[in-house]
Amino acid sequence: MSTPIPVVTVDGPSGTGKGTLCALLAQTLNWHFLDSGALYRLVALRAGDLGLALEDESAVAAVALALPVTFSIQDGEFRPVLDGVDVSARIRTEEAGTHASIVAALPAVRAALLDRQRNFRQAPGLVADGRDMGTVIFPDAVLKIFLTASAEARAERRYKQLSDKGMGVNLRALLEDIRRRDQRDQQRAIAPLQPAPDAIILDTTRLGISEVEDRVRQLLHERRLA
Ligand code: DC
Repeated sequence: MSTPIPVVTVDGPSGTGKGTLCALLAQTLNWHFLDSGALYRLVALRAGDLGLALEDESAVAAVALALPVTFSIQDGEFRPVLDGVDVSARIRTEEAGTHASIVAALPAVRAALLDRQRNFRQAPGLVADGRDMGTVIFPDAVLKIFLTASAEARAERRYKQLSDKGMGVNLRALLEDIRRRDQRDQQRAIAPLQPAPDAIILDTTRLGISEVEDRVRQLLHERRLA
């Protein structure tokens, strides 16, 4: 039997540093990268553009199944091209995140994205970023990392990111938004946000990104991946 293509999964709520860590991992290992959150954001965006209600499960699932999207990686960033148009900026708004979380709670939408996500598993390996990468999509991953951080720390990071981009933001509104999204992602009936039993949990509330990276490098070394 041939050895399966290795996958490293990084799950956890938004604002824990998953994106930064995944970019580093994909670069270090020279593996492919899947940003699964981008897929849910794209489905919600497309459904909205088509004038569909986000709760219309069968219609939104049909959108997910037929999503005309391709991806390019530029400077380590996962850039989706929807129907020939780069929609990176449109899917990165707070509103797009909230809409993604709403469609992500629909079982038929998750089912429609299953094969598309698994198709990212290509040699020599895949780094997968999401909520259910280690629990549902790639349960046989060779290394599963689950990043967590307090909602306050995540809201402050997001606040800084958006302020640095010159966007006017309100810290309290961001925190409320994060709490609402966490609750929806953790309490949904299907593939809720939770660590796989064999995941390594890293709390980044007080850890800087370089400390997280050091710990992950050590894990890669221990598992003979790098
Ligand atoms: O990682 P992100 O913020 O781009 O994800 C946006 C939303 O998509 C998130 O609130 C929950 C959902 N999501 C999911 O349910 N499963 C995934 N594997 C990735 C994201």
